Amino acid sequence: MTRRLDATQSGIATAASILRAGGLVAFGTETVYGLGADATQPQAVARIFEAKNRPRCNPRISHFATARAAFAQVVPNALAHALAQAFWPGPLTLILPRAPECSISELAADGLSSLAVRVPGNATALALLEQVDRPIAAPSANRSGRISPVDVAHVLEELDGRIDAVLDSGPCTVGVESTVVDLTDPQNPCLLRPGGVTLEALRGICPHMRLPQTTSDIAPHSPGRMVSHYAPHLPVRLNVVQAGPDEALLAFGAPHPTQAPLVWNLSARGNLEEAAARLFTGLRSLDHQGQALGLARIVVQPIPQHGLGRAIQDRLNRAAAPRAQDGTENTAP
Ligand code: TXA
Ligand code: MG
Repeated sequence: MTRRLDATQSGIATAASILRAGGLVAFGTETVYGLGADATQPQAVARIFEAKNRPRCNPRISHFATARAAFAQVVPNALAHALAQAFWPGPLTLILPRAPECSISELAADGLSSLAVRVPGNATALALLEQVDRPIAAPSANRSGRISPVDVAHVLEELDGRIDAVLDSGPCTVGVESTVVDLTDPQNPCLLRPGGVTLEALRGICPHMRLPQTTSDIAPHSPGRMVSHYAPHLPVRLNVVQAGPDEALLAFGAPHPTQAPLVWNLSARGNLEEAAARLFTGLRSLDHQGQALGLARIVVQPIPQHGLGRAIQDRLNRAAAPRAQDGTENTAP
């Protein structure tokens, strides 16, 4: 049985004690719901992989209540301090060298010499992290390869009975995962995953932030970046202008006549923040209803490629990528 806890003092205290005892608690952040475990206990981290049905281990982001707590586990540099100052608490994850005195289990970091750290911008999450007073490893709270959850109903759809509790802090406001930047070489900082903090905003602080050249540029550094991910059950086709009568339409911008029997508009007014916040709920809804109506696929209108549009397109590309026969994720080449 998975307990549903409210974001009250007693709910947060219960969640904290379950985590300290090595249990699994899903909790809301501003990006998506995370599946949390005490990152210092290898047995607790191992339960994450079990609950998610992960084909293999991937390095996890460790979450903290403060930059000070995060930077105690890594070797921060001046750029890390500047980015933390500008964007924490918030949807930014920093990859830094592991500190010699780091208490995070090898399993949580997948044996790497670097570590992903983040201070999430959600009051309930921060209160929980403060009470637990340990680094919390938390991937998105979905089964491996599936759509990330942005409210409690989605979490329970994915993981009911497989985790100890879910802490309900309402729907996530950002709706796509954090931006991941590799700062292990501060002369050559690199954006590994587009997310809630835009490239434009990052370059405001760090003008030489670069994008990876190819997927193989990312793969050795960010082994969790699968080609196929965020996959609905229905196939997904991108950059479609006209949808047919057997298609579910994920639209963006001013609506125009369509034959599609199902439409989810990410943002009728063409606003990318609104679109990001509505992305995963829309994919999930079109998938459920589209299957019930026997539709052939989900088709997606073009998304502008600036600001949060990059993070949205990245998730859509993965939702549309070819899937492995056994339903597990394909690893990036
Ligand atoms: O918004 C988020 O980041 C959410 C919420 C729950 O905080 N978490 C999340 O975690 O998306 P996850 O495990 O799904 O994604 C972690 C990403 C993966 O792409 C992984 O490869 C990368 O961070 N990563 C983790 N540790 C790394 C490391 N040492 N070096 C490079 N990439 C790393
Ligand atoms: Mg995920």
